[in-house]
Amino acid sequence: MEKIIEENKQGNALVLEQKEGNTKKLFIESYGCQMNFSDSEIVASILANEGFNTTQNLEEADLVLVNTCSIRDKAEQTVRKRLEKYNAVKKINPGMKVGVLGCMAERLKSQFLEEEKIVDMVVGPDAYKDLPNLLKEVEEGRDAINVILSKEETYGDIAPVRLNSNGVTAFVSITRGCDNMCTFCVVPFTRGRERSREPQSIMEEIKDLWNKGFKEITLLGQNVDSYLWYGGGLKKDYAKASEMQKATAVDFAQLLDMVATTYPKMRFRFSTSNPQDMHLEVIEVMAKHHNICKYIHLPVQSGSTRILKEMNRQHTREEYLTLVDNIYRIIPEISLSQDMIAGFPTETEEDHQDTLSLMEHCKYDFGFMFAYSERPGTLAARKLEDDIPDAVKNRRLTEIINLQQSMALKRTERFVGQVVEVLVEKTSKRSDAHWSGRNSQNTTVVFPKGNYKPGDFVNVLTSDCTTSTLIGEAIGYSQMQ
Ligand code: SAH
Ligand code: F3S
Repeated sequence: MEKIIEENKQGNALVLEQKEGNTKKLFIESYGCQMNFSDSEIVASILANEGFNTTQNLEEADLVLVNTCSIRDKAEQTVRKRLEKYNAVKKINPGMKVGVLGCMAERLKSQFLEEEKIVDMVVGPDAYKDLPNLLKEVEEGRDAINVILSKEETYGDIAPVRLNSNGVTAFVSITRGCDNMCTFCVVPFTRGRERSREPQSIMEEIKDLWNKGFKEITLLGQNVDSYLWYGGGLKKDYAKASEMQKATAVDFAQLLDMVATTYPKMRFRFSTSNPQDMHLEVIEVMAKHHNICKYIHLPVQSGSTRILKEMNRQHTREEYLTLVDNIYRIIPEISLSQDMIAGFPTETEEDHQDTLSLMEHCKYDFGFMFAYSERPGTLAARKLEDDIPDAVKNRRLTEIINLQQSMALKRTERFVGQVVEVLVEKTSKRSDAHWSGRNSQNTTVVFPKGNYKPGDFVNVLTSDCTTSTLIGEAIGYSQMQ
């Protein structure tokens, strides 16, 4: 692979990996969760062996791939709009082929080929290794589709081509799929059953990133705390594993301990944690290692035990609060974030108040908040009427967002006047003279550039903040440098 450094709009270095001799051009874009962005890097790697280098320019693409999200109706509408754009481009670039990847491909299957004339190829999240065959069909003028979900596929043997990389931070996927069957969620249908990736291949990918100068890795999965390697296969089949397999199994706490111990000068994050699977062992491993960031994304969706039950979340309000209290006890400096859904079917004003009071208790630093969007085929869609009027959903959502905003400001203010450790990522969006990076708690920090560069670990004395950004001055390299 040849490394090409370009500049993006903010003047930040963008590292592009291109294979010499490749002549065809791939334009690939991703919507939705981080896993989609990570999957697109696997797809780019598979296609690099088929003669494709990536391009940032849609008009010159031989192949356009869009990695799609189905989580809410709005996410699907965004993709439909992009397809209209491709349609317009096809008029000036008639040879261009279009493929749809990811969750919408899996959800809509051949319906996509019928509904959207622009689409030549539909490929589900477990079928990317079949892309070379599918492309051949497309090149011969036929539509192509593979939406088979797998029990085994983790793409552990594929070295991703880093796309739009800052050369400092990267994602490494450790599990695929989800077994939780939350009643509102389309993911178990689009990404299949849960399986974990072999620790050895995770370690190799991290080693490769370290050798290329990366300084921060985010371990990815729909439910990372449920990670369990026992020789391959689905998580749900663990009970059938041999005694030998069970004795040598690796869980998430062990994996985290292993990566943090092996690479003490690299910082680690992980996402997403599901409260029912987040055990104290993981929190203790986090507390033990300076290089595991003190930030947990811990979606809860609702503060009402009754609604949690309707959502098939496997814990009560009280169990969640106990977990949060334990986290603060073991790691007082932790930052937490939530996902919340406003207006789930049957949600009363009292349930909504329970959500607000739970938020106040948990003091979240960040939040990702949504109005309930009914997804076809999910248990909630089949069993529960989407009975909360939009106006009520939106009013509750606004109350949740406003509370989060005011809490976030207080949480960010707690760092003002303190020294925080920042990994420099890029030039600040607001000022060319400032670097931007994050502290361990995931808060953005900006400071005058001085002689520092992206990839440096810097101690910054903060003097001011906005809701989500700390402002300060560098006072030297930190212990991680
Ligand atoms: N475990 C996953 C969750 C994926 S979905 C992860 O890795 O993040 C991300 C968030 O989208 C969920 O936590 C939930 O808050 C929201 N969401 C999922 N389905 C939804 C729906 N039908 N309507 C509104 N929000 C939804
Ligand atoms: Fe979706 Fe629940 Fe899994 S939100 S991704 S089914 S943990």
